[in-house]
Amino acid sequence: MTRARSNVVEPEPAEPRAHPLGDGELWHGDCARVLPRLEPGYDVVYVDPPFNAGGQRGARAGRGQRASGETAYSDAWGGLDAFLSMLEPRLEAMARVLSERGSLWLHLDYRAVHDAKVLADRLLGRGAFQGEIVWVPGNGARGKRAPSVTHQTILVYAPSGHMIWNVNDPALREPYAEISQAMHFQNTDPDGRRYRDRVIVGKRYRYYADEGRQLGSVWTDCPAMRANTPLNPEATGYPTQKPLKLLERIVLGATHPDSRVLDPMCGSGTTLAAARKQGRRFTGIDQSDVAVTVALERLGREP
Ligand SMILES: C[S@@+](CC[C@H](N)C(=O)[O-])C[C@H]1O[C@@H](n2cnc3c(N)ncnc32)[C@H](O)[C@@H]1O
Repeated sequence: MTRARSNVVEPEPAEPRAHPLGDGELWHGDCARVLPRLEPGYDVVYVDPPFNAGGQRGARAGRGQRASGETAYSDAWGGLDAFLSMLEPRLEAMARVLSERGSLWLHLDYRAVHDAKVLADRLLGRGAFQGEIVWVPGNGARGKRAPSVTHQTILVYAPSGHMIWNVNDPALREPYAEISQAMHFQNTDPDGRRYRDRVIVGKRYRYYADEGRQLGSVWTDCPAMRANTPLNPEATGYPTQKPLKLLERIVLGATHPDSRVLDPMCGSGTTLAAARKQGRRFTGIDQSDVAVTVALERLGREP
């Protein structure tokens, strides 16, 4: 069946279809059509949409191979306004399915993140903005434009104002600098653990070297898939696949064991794989045939 819009005849979008996966489900369809069918109650909604970068994104032919295969999705919008018009109703629908303790993570880069921030502030409320993660994939600088942008940004919103944040989870901690360990952690407790004590406003606090310090908002320790070799078992060949470690950190940081996690533009299913690995139930959505094929294979493959 076809439908006409102006002079263009487009194929009628297929009815969204759900694939049950035991501990979760994967929907094939436009998230604008799927999200209204979902029950609210997600503690994390992570979305990594196209970046308004222009052009088509081709999947690699075979897991991790460099040769380009079929087109996975389009990132050509005809301008920023058209991109934001696509994003707006979908962001609203994502916010609707959040739980009272839920957070929405919007992953973009310099091409659209600033305008998307203004949009999200208007839709979700300026007070819902919790902060942003600067993710440094570690690909290095490229090209001659100044400056060569070597980070991406993840905006974090909690419309209820009360998002889960497991500040002491090991996934949200990083080692103390070597110099700090040498200078400050000179005591050893009976179990052989190095520590330092600090007195702050009359109260004594103990810090252990092996617990590390609280992680900040600049994440440099989750290298991009691009930096991995084709031999990396994590590589699916899907374009713009994000590293599992990045998504595991978000899942561990912003959910509880009984949480549900949603990725409404899930691509190769990284968020779903991270949720499964951490024992959380999940829902994924993608409108790309290639994405759904890759994600189904991946979720069948991973324990
Ligand atoms: C940047 S990729 C996501 C990559 C993913 N995070 C991963 O690790 O593989 C963006 C995805 O959004 C999907 N997408 C774009 N518009 C969509 C829509 N309206 N509904 C559902 N999926 C959409 C594309 O098909 C593509 O797979």
